[in-house]
Amino acid sequence: MIYAYIYITSKNYYDRKVDEYYQKQRKSNDKYSHLFTQILNGLQEIKTFHMLPKLHKKLDRIKSEYSKNYMIKRKYYVRRENDVRFITHTFSILLYVILVLLMIRGTIGVDALVLVIGYFESMNSYLDKTILSSVTIREVNVAVKRISNILNYSSNEMIEFGNEMHENQNGIIEFQNVNFSYENKTIVKNMNLKIYPNQITALVGMSGTGKTSIFNLLLRPYQVDSGNIMIDNINIYEYSKEAYSSVASVVNQKPFIFGMSIRKNLDFASKDVGKQIEACKRVGIHDFISSLPDGYHTILREDGSNISGGQKQLIALARTLLSKAEILLFDEITSSLDPNTTKEVVKVLKELKKNHTVIMITHKPSMMKIADQVIVIDNGKVVGKGQHKKLLEENKYYQRLQK
Ligand SMILES: Nc1ncnc2c1ncn2[C@@H]1O[C@H](COP(=O)(O)OP(=O)(O)OP(=O)(O)O)[C@@H](O)[C@H]1O
Ligand SMILES: [Mg+2]
Repeated sequence: MIYAYIYITSKNYYDRKVDEYYQKQRKSNDKYSHLFTQILNGLQEIKTFHMLPKLHKKLDRIKSEYSKNYMIKRKYYVRRENDVRFITHTFSILLYVILVLLMIRGTIGVDALVLVIGYFESMNSYLDKTILSSVTIREVNVAVKRISNILNYSSNEMIEFGNEMHENQNGIIEFQNVNFSYENKTIVKNMNLKIYPNQITALVGMSGTGKTSIFNLLLRPYQVDSGNIMIDNINIYEYSKEAYSSVASVVNQKPFIFGMSIRKNLDFASKDVGKQIEACKRVGIHDFISSLPDGYHTILREDGSNISGGQKQLIALARTLLSKAEILLFDEITSSLDPNTTKEVVKVLKELKKNHTVIMITHKPSMMKIADQVIVIDNGKVVGKGQHKKLLEENKYYQRLQK
């Protein structure tokens, strides 16, 4: 009885402790995967806003929290195994001594001795099995190793930066005989174009003609095969990392908003609260944010249950306004917006062109109309340039596109 009581009490104590820290460890694990999914989904924004150092810090924090809980859990786990084994062995030695003494005194016979030892051993073997079953927890080790591998992963494919420190760009973009392919598939073919500041330029063309690829080249995740992309007469690969960080910024059709507060999402571009509010006012989302019970501290959920797609888009737009970038790229931002939000976005774009180079990719004729210059792309080539009205009269491909 005493043995069973001590055994169960000590095992229960350690079990509870192991469970407590296992739960904490799982929570850190969940935080990891959550942040990882977000990072993978928002890769382009992360690069554009240079969020990587901040995200690294956050990952490091979760990593040390995870390791701490894992180590405490391990400690209790090892102590549980050792202490319970110690209790079992002490009691079995005690039992053997008592039984042998009783036999010498003639109180019990050999048959009773064998029987009691047999029962005790089989009880012990079951108890041992129970203890050893918790070995499965060791499998967590594998998960820890996998997470650590992912954390230590770094891409070798970064395109190198140069030394050019010129920071105050005008934002004149020029493609000179640019060729680009993904693996063996040629996407951009001998492209020549010039895009000017203080204008809205629309890139239009059928699906798969290479519009987003042009943005990818400007944002530098991909490099040209041949030809030059110049910004203010300087090749984009000659800019230093610091200088290029204030060159171009992008907003996508499905902008990536982190599952953090509105303020923290804006902090990635600028921590100046006054500027954040000003940017939100400019895109017409400030009143909505203020009406939320937690205002700018509202946590944005990824499933969008507390914010609509259009509102997300406007917050992403505000984040772009806060970045120092001269060149603003918008990839089909209005395609899933309702007409009212689209009107707001058009107002913002017109406002933005006053001190930026604005390029938008669009499939909407109403958006093409507001552009100062429309560049028509077919199969990786420029097949038309000019204003909507003129292209509509003269360009066959553009006419087909409108339909
Ligand atoms: N990362 C990639 N690797 C390989 N091929 C790609 C990659 N991204 C795009 N492509 C291919 O390159 C071509 C051009 O793609 P891109 O996304 O630039 O087109 P798009 O004009 O933006 O089309 P859409 O209007 O549908 O967005 C497509 O055929 C596409 O399948
Ligand atoms: Mg595209």
